[in-house]
Amino acid sequence: MLSWDEFEKEDDAETAVATANNATAMADMNIDKLDQVGGAAAEEARAVSADDSAAIARAKAALDELDIAEGLAELEGTSARVAVDEKRMINCRADLNQLVPFKYDWAWQKYLDGCANHWMPQEVNMNADIALWKSTDGLTDDERRIVMRNLGFFSTADSLVANNLVLAVYRLITNPECRQYILRQAFEEAIHTHAYQYCIESLAMDEGEIFNMYHEIPSVAKKASWGLKYTRSISDPKFETGTVETDKELLRNLIAYYCVLEGIFFYCGFTQILSMGRRNKMTGVAEQFQYILRDESMHLNFGIDVINQIKIENPHLWDASMKEEATQMILQGTQLEIEYARDTMPRGVLGMNAAMMEDYLKFIANRRLTQIGLKEEYPGTTNPFPWMSEIMDLKKEKNFFETRVIEYQTGGALSWD
Ligand SMILES: [Fe+2]
Ligand SMILES: [Fe+2]
Repeated sequence: MLSWDEFEKEDDAETAVATANNATAMADMNIDKLDQVGGAAAEEARAVSADDSAAIARAKAALDELDIAEGLAELEGTSARVAVDEKRMINCRADLNQLVPFKYDWAWQKYLDGCANHWMPQEVNMNADIALWKSTDGLTDDERRIVMRNLGFFSTADSLVANNLVLAVYRLITNPECRQYILRQAFEEAIHTHAYQYCIESLAMDEGEIFNMYHEIPSVAKKASWGLKYTRSISDPKFETGTVETDKELLRNLIAYYCVLEGIFFYCGFTQILSMGRRNKMTGVAEQFQYILRDESMHLNFGIDVINQIKIENPHLWDASMKEEATQMILQGTQLEIEYARDTMPRGVLGMNAAMMEDYLKFIANRRLTQIGLKEEYPGTTNPFPWMSEIMDLKKEKNFFETRVIEYQTGGALSWD
């Protein structure tokens, strides 16, 4: 959080100091006004009457002691009404509690789109999956391995993403419309973790084995620890952006989580599970993953927009060494995902094999590189699974929800009666 001290310390330009002083003076004036206007009415309302219990009298007395100036000074940013030009993705000094006027309409639109795509795991019918999982000859060992490994990896990965958002990224992204989307995304990550728990419970799997897989299976552990490395410093509550090095550290985190974790690490698993669903096996698990993939593709697009906006507003951060680092991160992520593909598919299964998955991951890596303005590292790679793009674009009205079993209550159901 910015404080007045840092506000003045960090500004070396004279005009900026003058603006800061004006803002401070205006804040003081506003607080004086707040103290005066309505003061008499408040005093009257707060006078202790004979009917008041001791507890009510104590509450009123405590409010008499409330220091408005102290409370407002703790709010982030200046107290002036916010103009669009003052808004910035990082290191913004305008009041972060004023959502409008919007600067990044795309962020608000993604928030609305995310809400329009709301779903819950219990809506998906798991009966066919339960019968198939229990049957002794319905699935091969390789198919079972795919289901187990992916529930193991994803149950941890979505939790890592949610923790990174809430405990690290949220406070460092200094824009209210983006924070609004991040809050929506954080809830969606909770729904995803819920979805894995729901699958694991429905199929009566060993919960300890699945949720602890990131400690026990090397190809899962490597991906998790690669992600954790990039959240360690910025999730320290004392971490602040504002220098080239710390701004770059935040940028690294955004690339690691949005481009690599959500943009590459999820793709082998998504493809395997959805391929299973296309073959009419584990259709409930596949439907859960289909909803999750649709959410994730929006998370990824939001992250790419945030990264590119930070680059536009802070071109000095996107220097040759940062570009090299970002390229390396995406290549390392691709390599780890290729290793995961080999571990989860030692043989051909479900009409795919590790070599096809490798091509697909290189195709995805090229997309991630170009989306943040870097050059392709695997030129000429084509997509062996074009049906994946079709699934990502599916609107829920078309054929999602056909198997829904539960209605959840929406705001329209409330009434004043
Ligand atoms: Fe997720
Ligand atoms: Fe996500």
